Order: sequence, then structure tokens, then C-alpha cells
Amino acid sequence: MAREFSTVGVVGLGTMGSGIAEVLARSGLSVVAVELDDVSLARGRGHLEHSTARALARGKLDEQGRGELLDRVRCTTSLTDLAEADLVIEAIPESLELKADVFAQLDKITGPRTILASNTSSLSVTEIGVHTSRPGKVVGMHFFNPAPVLKLIEVVRTVVTEPDVVADVVAFAHRLGKTPVVIGDRAGFIANALLFGYLNHAVEMYEQRYATREDLDAAMRYGCGYPMGPLALLDLIGLDTAYEILDTMYHQSRNRLHAPAPLLKQMITAGLLGRKTGRGFYTYD
Ligand code: CAA
Repeated sequence: MAREFSTVGVVGLGTMGSGIAEVLARSGLSVVAVELDDVSLARGRGHLEHSTARALARGKLDEQGRGELLDRVRCTTSLTDLAEADLVIEAIPESLELKADVFAQLDKITGPRTILASNTSSLSVTEIGVHTSRPGKVVGMHFFNPAPVLKLIEVVRTVVTEPDVVADVVAFAHRLGKTPVVIGDRAGFIANALLFGYLNHAVEMYEQRYATREDLDAAMRYGCGYPMGPLALLDLIGLDTAYEILDTMYHQSRNRLHAPAPLLKQMITAGLLGRKTGRGFYTYD
């Protein structure tokens, strides 16, 4: 019988985790959101408040709806509060060691039917799943930034993910108003495998002073109808995240399209990570 999802956990309340928590709460689900400590929790809660205030200002939510949405998200620093969750979505930083540890703990805390999902964009879901006693109930649920806006969820099935788990997660993604696609466990899945070759090429063109950042971005916005140019998009994604994704894909496929442009590494070393540090290819207030 198909699973009922009423309480969903989110581990990690950074840009992606807080966006995912918002999507879940908007669909009327009870969300248990977990962060490492009170400072990170307050920052995550701040992301949610900021994003819902923006929706309020744009008339997408009223005061009451915003209050109800925020009330549906219970913030905690204890993973054990996920004991009743039907599904847990992990969205912590891209470290296999950290994720393995969280999944091993979730495996002990949650009920045996609970699905454990990772929002990883560059690690192997199979390698994460083997740190649990239920790799058949481990999947990828890869959201896109900004999660409240973008409709895609890549549902990643490993060679051992049970078919009913994939079917239930796909149905759940539809319930969230998203469009799921199902893909096997390979670096970059579908969207990043196609997108990042293009983004990397744009960095190379910029590095070779082929064109200005504004002209590179304008060409793709006005010539191809993309909502953002590639350098502005890299600032949104975060240059460190982009580098990780490229590097992982390059090591897996050896496709030179994915060999990270040297400028990316230099900008990361200099602390220019994009919007999150106030400066990347562009400068932000
Ligand atoms: N949170 C919530 N809502 C947001 C938002 C955010 N961070 N940013 C924008 N929005 C909402 C706005 O409130 C607005 O909503 P309404 O239309 O309902 O009023 C809508 O999105 C459009 O926003 P704006 O008018 O401010 O600006 P825009 O039209 O330029 O859209 C954008 C902004 C949604 C970011 C758009 O430019 C876009 O889609 N850019 C491409 C983003 C993209 O490609 N993301 C994928 C990155 S790859 C990835 O995420 C995978 C990975 O593994 C790294």
C-alpha cells in the first residue's frame, strides 16, 4: 500500500534545506527541521521568515497563511525529534563523511518504513545508503535553487532502492506541486550533467576575456531566453558548490567539459563564493 506522508523531517537548514522546508510546509505537511546548533537554527529560521515575508509582500500569502506555514515548521537541534517522521530529507553540506554519519543516526532513530532521502547534488546516493541497515529505502531527492520556485525534483534510485519507495517518492513530489524525473545514481544526474558543462564554458570564456560578464549573461538571457545568464547563475548556486559538482563529474566521466575552469578555484580561494558571501562574478548588497 502506498505510504502516507504527514510528518517530514529536513536535516540542514541552509539555502536548500530551508527552501525545501518551505515547500513542504506550503503543502500542509508537518515539518521537523533539524540544525546542528542554535545559531544555525536561527539562521535557517531567518531564511524561512525572509522568504515567506517576500511571498506576503507579493500577495502570494496572507498574514494568517504565513503564520500557519511557519507554525507547521518545528525547529530543533536534536535528530531524535525525527522519530515519528515518515520521510526525512537531508540537505547538509556535501561531505560523504558527514552524510554517512547523519544517515547512520537516522537509521537508528526512525521507524523501519521511513524513507531516507538525500538532496545531494554531487555525491553517490548508493555510498550514502550503505551506511544504513535499509539501503532499499534510501533515495535521492534533488531539488533546485530556489526550491520554492523551481518545479523539478530528480528522484535518484540506486541499484538497491525498492521500486515501491521510488513510486511513493514520485507520488509525493507530485503532491508538492513539483515535476519529478527518475534517474540512476550517476554524478550530475540529468540537469547538472547538462547544465554545468555550459556554466564551466562560460567561466572559461570570461577568463579568456572573450567577453564581459554582462555581455556573456545578456547573450544567454536575451538570445536564448534563459532566466539568468551563466555567471549570475553561478553566483546564485555558489562557486564552491559549482566547483564540487564539476570536480565530481570530471572525476567520474573524465569529460573535459567538466574540468573546472582554473578561475573558479582562484575565486573560491579568495572567498568570492557568490551571493552568499556578497561577491562572486558580481557584487551584492
Ligand atoms: N525563494 C522564494 N521565492 C523566490 C526566490 C527565493 N529565493 N527567488 C525568487 N522567488 C520568487 C519570487 O517571489 C517570484 O515569485 P512570484 O512570481 O510568485 O511573485 C518569482 O520567484 C520570480 O522572482 P523575481 O521576479 O524576483 O525574479 P526572476 O523572475 O528573475 O526569477 C529566479 C528569479 C526564480 C531565481 C529566476 O531567475 C530563475 O529561475 N533563475 C534560474 C535558476 C536556476 O537555474 N536554478 C538552478 C540552479 S542548479 C541547482 O540548483 C542544482 C544544484 O545542484 C546546484
